[in-house]
Order: sequence, then C-alpha cells, then structure tokens
Amino acid sequence: SDSRSIAVVGGDGIGPEVTAQGRRILALIAEKRSLPITLTDGDYGIEAYEKRGRMWPESTRIAMAEADAVLFGAIGGTSYPLPPKLHKTDSLLAVRRSLDVFVNLRPVKTSPALYEASSLKPRVLEGVDLIIVRELLGGIYFGEPRGVETLPGGERRGVNTHIYTSSQIQRVARAAFDIARTRKGRVCSVAKENVMEAGQLWREEVQAIHDARYPDVELSHMLVDHCAMQLVRAPAQFDVLLTDNLFGDILSDSAAMVTGSLGMLPSASLGVVREDGRRGALYEPVHGSAPDIAGKDLANPIGSILSVAMMLRFSLGMPKEADLVERAVSDALESGARTADIAIGRKYISTVEMGDAVASKLASLLN
Ligand code: NAD
Ligand code: IPM
Ligand code: MN
Repeated sequence: SDSRSIAVVGGDGIGPEVTAQGRRILALIAEKRSLPITLTDGDYGIEAYEKRGRMWPESTRIAMAEADAVLFGAIGGTSYPLPPKLHKTDSLLAVRRSLDVFVNLRPVKTSPALYEASSLKPRVLEGVDLIIVRELLGGIYFGEPRGVETLPGGERRGVNTHIYTSSQIQRVARAAFDIARTRKGRVCSVAKENVMEAGQLWREEVQAIHDARYPDVELSHMLVDHCAMQLVRAPAQFDVLLTDNLFGDILSDSAAMVTGSLGMLPSASLGVVREDGRRGALYEPVHGSAPDIAGKDLANPIGSILSVAMMLRFSLGMPKEADLVERAVSDALESGARTADIAIGRKYISTVEMGDAVASKLASLLN
C-alpha cells in the first residue's frame, strides 16, 4: 500500500524536545500533501530503563522494526554508565545494528545568515557544502575483543579492537561514490593508514572500488589528523568525505562549527536494500542529549527538522518536499529566528518557537 509508518523515538535529554519539532514538520507535510502516514511514538533511554527496566523496551523495538523509517532524538545522560549488559543489547549501537544501517550521511552546509554564529571567519565559510559519509557498523565501535579486565597483579586493562573487513569498506565506499555522482563528483577518503593496518586496507579497498567502478569520480586520500586541520582551515575544498565510524563521529562534530552550531546538523543512516525493496532508515540529529540544556526549551531543533528533510528524500520519495523543508529553515533563519546556541548576543527564541517559525514558513511554501 501507499501508507507509510514512521517510528518516532525522542530518547533522553533534549532528544524529545527537538524530536517533537521534527515530528510536527513531518505531520504538517503529511497533512498538506494528504500523505497517509502513521506516526508511532516509542520510549527509549534512561527514563524507560528506570520505569520499565529496559532502555529499549520491546514495544519500541517492534515499532522501529516495522516502520519504514525511524525519527530518533538522542541518548545518554549523566547517570552513565548503564549496566554493561544493557549497553550491549539496548544501546544506540545495538539499535543501529538491528536496523542494519551501515552508512551514515552527515551533510554540512553553511548559510550566510549564520556566518556570525560560526567560530570561523566568513571567508572560510563561503561555499561550504560537504557531506561526511561515515561507516556506521564497524571499526572500533564494534570490534571484539573489548572490555575492561584485571590482569594478574591487579593492573587493569581496557581493550577495544579496530577491525574492518573488505566488504564493510566496499559497501560504504560504493555509497560514497554514488552520492558523489549526484554532487560535485569528488570523494576524499580519510583514514590513518600510516599507523593502522585496517587503515591500509581501507585505502586499498576504496581505491580498488574507485578504479573498477567509479573512474569518473575524483578520488583523493587524506590522513585523518590532516583532515581535521583542513576542515577548519579550508572546509570548502571538500565535497564527499568518506571515513570510518570513529573518525566520522569526531570529524562531524568539528565540521558542525562551520554551520554555527552542532544543533544544526542532521543525519541519515541507511541500510542494505532488502529483497522486498525496503531498507533500514534511521534519521537523527548529529548532536547528543545535551544534559546541560535539557528540559529548558532552549535546544535548537533544526538538526531534527533537517533530518526529517532527509527522511522525505531518502525514505518517503518526496524530494520536492525535502527541498521545501530546507528552504523553510533558511527562510526562518533569514528572518532572524535564532535559538540561544546561534543567537550570539541577540534576542533568542525557544525550541518550540523555532519549530513555530519553520512551520509557518513551510506552511506558506506548501500552499
Ligand atoms: P552533546 O552533543 O549532547 O552536547 C555538546 C554541546 O553541544 C553541549 O554544550 C550542548 O548543549 C550543545 N548542543 C548539542 N545539541 C544542541 C542543540 N540541539 N541545541 C543547542 N545546543 C546543543 O554532546 P555531549 O555533551 O558530549 O554528550 C551528552 C550525552 O549525549 C552523552 O551521554 C553522549 O554519549 C550522548 N550523545 C548521544 C548522541 C546520540 O544520541 N546520537 C550523540 C552524541 C552524544
Ligand atoms: C553520534 C554519537 C554516537 C556515536 C554515540 C552516542 C554512540 O556520538 O551519533 O555521533 O558515537 O556514534
Ligand atoms: Mn557523535
């Protein structure tokens, strides 16, 4: 049928606050475009754990598994660490693994309206439009062995393992090259092959996929430390940045500052296309639960709202509406709407009021 189902899971801290704004934008599009869409809300996180003994309750698990896409908020709080057993079964990593979402797209685009909110100079920000393609199911996040163990004699040892297989690298590389073909046609692959064997394999496999299937795309390689520097020196040089799980996590928070705030960045995590044509799809802002501002109606909801735009584009087949959501965000910013994180001494509005501002711009664009 044409009907679509979306699971909406706010999670912890500012997660529910920003997700409520993403959700209403989605609901607005559904209403204006008469899109038969079911939104199912699920609880997840520390509160769910305290109330129900599970961070990831069964009902939420089912809603996510059955949905065409998941709109997610954030996880994490100050009562960390949770029981290690739950970490394995209920963490965000477990969620990502269960949805089989191996590639995480994190677009980073500057808008002149927010130049003054950035810590970088306007001339550095001009024309920045890049996307980080982050491998999401491998590397040191998932490698075994892992854990903390006590050695004979009492010394303790923390262990994590950085592993990549060729197929894991190949599938994320193909995703990056495919995306490059829809953009400026340039991929920069980022690894640490001067120190890590897994990084050597990364580079070799990316180069091989390029040579065999994507000779039309321009491929370069950069060491991750150098890339961290180039991202703040001259971010406009990048089109597609292809990198592993940990490096993608770090580089994306850094890259966020070109937009003025971590609160601005959306993401889409996509899975393997299954036999029935469906694929796991998880949409979430790049930021976390921000315990320092949680519960105060202060968070910037734009990361969640732009994640909804990505959902419209990648899961709901509505690229025009996706463009309109992005336009509504720009229009709201251009007319002066600012949450505290991007206000820079100016008057600022609340999370809900930012949702109001975007929704009202969008409503007129949809008419
Ligand atoms: P964070 O992203 O939550 O916050 C970092 C800083 O950015 C804070 O000062 C915060 O106030 C600010 N910030 C983040 N989002 C914002 C928004 N939308 N509007 C305005 N300001 C915003 O990172 P952290 O403080 O290192 O981590 C807090 C918790 O979140 C940890 O438990 C961490 O594990 C978790 N986390 C979860 C996710 C996720 O769910 N995807 C992502 C990152 C961190
Ligand atoms: C992110 C977060 C997560 C990650 C954490 C919460 C597991 O930082 O989505 O960027 O490291 O992937
Ligand atoms: Mn992160």
